[in-house]
Amino acid sequence: MPEFPSDFVRALPKAELHVHLEGSVDPATLLVLAERHGVEPPAPDEAGIREWLRFDGFASFLERYFFVCDLLRDAEDLARVAEAYLRTAHQQGVVHVEFHVSSSYHIVERGADWGEVLGGVVDGCERAERDLGISSLLLPDISPHLGAAAAERALDVVLSEPHPRVVGLGMGGPADNWATEDFGAVFRRAREAGLHTVSHAGEHGGAWEVRHALDEFGAQRIQHGIAAAAEPDVLAQVVESGVACDVCPASNVALAAVPDMASHPLPLMLDAGVVVTLGSDDPPLFHTTLLDEYENAWNLCDLDRRGLTMLARNSLAESFAAADLVAEWIADLDSVTG
Ligand code: ADE
Ligand code: ZN
Repeated sequence: MPEFPSDFVRALPKAELHVHLEGSVDPATLLVLAERHGVEPPAPDEAGIREWLRFDGFASFLERYFFVCDLLRDAEDLARVAEAYLRTAHQQGVVHVEFHVSSSYHIVERGADWGEVLGGVVDGCERAERDLGISSLLLPDISPHLGAAAAERALDVVLSEPHPRVVGLGMGGPADNWATEDFGAVFRRAREAGLHTVSHAGEHGGAWEVRHALDEFGAQRIQHGIAAAAEPDVLAQVVESGVACDVCPASNVALAAVPDMASHPLPLMLDAGVVVTLGSDDPPLFHTTLLDEYENAWNLCDLDRRGLTMLARNSLAESFAAADLVAEWIADLDSVTG
């Protein structure tokens, strides 16, 4: 297999549409935050933190993910984390990031003031945009494990503080209650309020989740969606809908959603005609970066430079950024690739 053209991919203007703000905390920042809040870190140094970030499935991941969430306590923490990730993304040629922000964690579980959370994240986004020109938008998400009533409450709070960077509602986090509670009404209300709607689906759960997210949530993008590959009818529905799947191969391996990288269904999804964008999900937690995900796709799917360019183009075209910006980025992409 030819060597992965990393400089070529770095030079492609691209967007990252599937990355969790709370999951973007790198080990150095984790140590700073723990110190700042007088919390005993899980290990004394970065190497130890990296070792701690090994999981044997979704449950052990969530335990550590919530440890990290708990370190994000005030506006400055959130600004620091948002800015730090945008700087990292910029170094990889990313021109636009859509951060999933665990709004139901901050609002319902932590009882935080959403205005303060949002203010902090926006400050971080603005600092990065001012310094580097990188664009960013926010997708507050609701978590099914807290139930539909809590999701409604989180949405109420999100809608009470409209902000031009808040452009959509997502769903992620522990999947309990996915099958038993009706979250469709929350998404309908979000759409009526002018938000886009996206959802995690078919990550650890079956293909039916993907169908449900399309039919009941009106999802305009699906995070992961990999289980659709196992059900021809659902795969056909995804292709027919044109709804993109924001796929994160390293996350799927780290959380044992697939047995190993070689078994990842990304090639099948691309061959079937699914619109795919690549994301890194919770990159430092999974020891990955967006560029690594392009390399994973290169290795898995036997892509050439046109294939890599198509993935970058999808990420721009499927973003919720303003149409004139998207057109500019795509023109830049065309000029880079000739
Ligand atoms: N929140 C952060 N990472 C997640 C993942 N991999 N799946 C669902 N929710 C998440
Ligand atoms: Zn995710």
